[in-house]
Amino acid sequence: MQNIKICDNIDINDQGHLTFAGYDTVDLANKYSTPLYLMDEDKIREKVRIYKNAMAKYLPEGSMPEFASKAFSCRAVYRIMAEEGIDVDVVSSGELYTAFSAGFPMENVFFHGNNKTDSDITFAMEKGVGFFVVDGAEELYAIQTEAENKGITQKILLRITPGIDPHTHKKISTGSEESKFGIPLRCGAALDMTKAALSMKNIHLCGFHCHVGSQIFECEPFINAAEIMFKFFADVKAALGYTPEIFNIGGGLGVRYTCADPVIDYDEKIKEIADKIYSEAQNYGINPPKIMMEPGRSLVADAGMTLYTVGTVKKLEGFANYVSVDGGMTDNPRYTLYESPYTVVVANKADKEKNFAATIAGRCCESGDLIQENAEITEPERGDILAVLTTGAYNYSMASNYNRVPRPPVVMLGKDKEYVAVKRESFEDLCALDV
Ligand code: LLP
Repeated sequence: MQNIKICDNIDINDQGHLTFAGYDTVDLANKYSTPLYLMDEDKIREKVRIYKNAMAKYLPEGSMPEFASKAFSCRAVYRIMAEEGIDVDVVSSGELYTAFSAGFPMENVFFHGNNKTDSDITFAMEKGVGFFVVDGAEELYAIQTEAENKGITQKILLRITPGIDPHTHKKISTGSEESKFGIPLRCGAALDMTKAALSMKNIHLCGFHCHVGSQIFECEPFINAAEIMFKFFADVKAALGYTPEIFNIGGGLGVRYTCADPVIDYDEKIKEIADKIYSEAQNYGINPPKIMMEPGRSLVADAGMTLYTVGTVKKLEGFANYVSVDGGMTDNPRYTLYESPYTVVVANKADKEKNFAATIAGRCCESGDLIQENAEITEPERGDILAVLTTGAYNYSMASNYNRVPRPPVVMLGKDKEYVAVKRESFEDLCALDV
């Protein structure tokens, strides 16, 4: 039998129904209809605190996590992060605006991205963004110009490409030399940019950033990144007499999508990375900077679950058993994009034997619209509720309206509260911008 308790917020109740964050998922599907995104607010807070406490314990004073909000962006999550007292990373004016409109303190926002437009830069400065994480030379000059126009000093970090292969899916690997992100160390580019930034009168260079990739289970890529970056800090110190106040080592720690994935002790991983940071700092005689980490997936993925209603069940002898649901790549494009594994459960038969190899298909006119292939589930029938687990990261935030399918609502669950964080999209919403 497939293990479905991949996280401690998942269980089965006396009626044989799957529960999530203590709630009966079948009741939730009946109450809110499907498809439906569920988010466990207490789990998000718990994960934030694990990072916060570990970073406070093992790293220099002031070190803390910053939520990479591309993983899950809506007003509710920025309010949660503000209450938990951590910073956020945004990658577009849209994410920045969402945070702003939720009342998130703009000075605690880091603006990322490999191509911030002039209007992004102007917009973010007008809103009082804390930091730009600068990805290239043109952007550095554009920020200096705009800061000068506005008569302000803008804080920045420089994003460096450490040249590391994190051995994760190619599409979510960002730290290797061929990456479109960041400033390469090669040929002295990063040193030149540091020099340029230090010479700019409206720029305050606070330090450096690197991010190696996503869904990483080992500390090795972070440890390698720390080695490379501290060597670079030493070069910078020797050439320019500059020592960073902040080193942001990026996000990327993985999560469990299925029982085949390891159980991750984030505290332990952070300690291992911290030990390396201290030893490298000592090695090069550099005052250890304040460390930031930028988790996205590991703060929200297992705080999420998606519920669907089963439609047709087609058994194609010798091929596949297609179980079609009322959502698909429009609410979860991750299998289509990366063949990501997921755990699938028939929520109203969660205590029954898993006796059926199912290909879970979405409703789009697209053969590749699949949520999972060969999922081991209980044989379902039309009207059953199907749950896909661990969908809190990069599902709602990557959802689309392909085939004009409205996006599902997000219902936030907590011990003493349950609320709609994002409403279900209506047909009128779909046509709202059409003229
Ligand atoms: N910082 C930077 C600069 C990033 O580019 C990312 C992710 C993160 C932090 C957060 O990484 P995380 O902790 O979530 O692994 N759509 C893909 C993931 C793309 C990740 C992009 N950058 C997926 O669904 O797997």
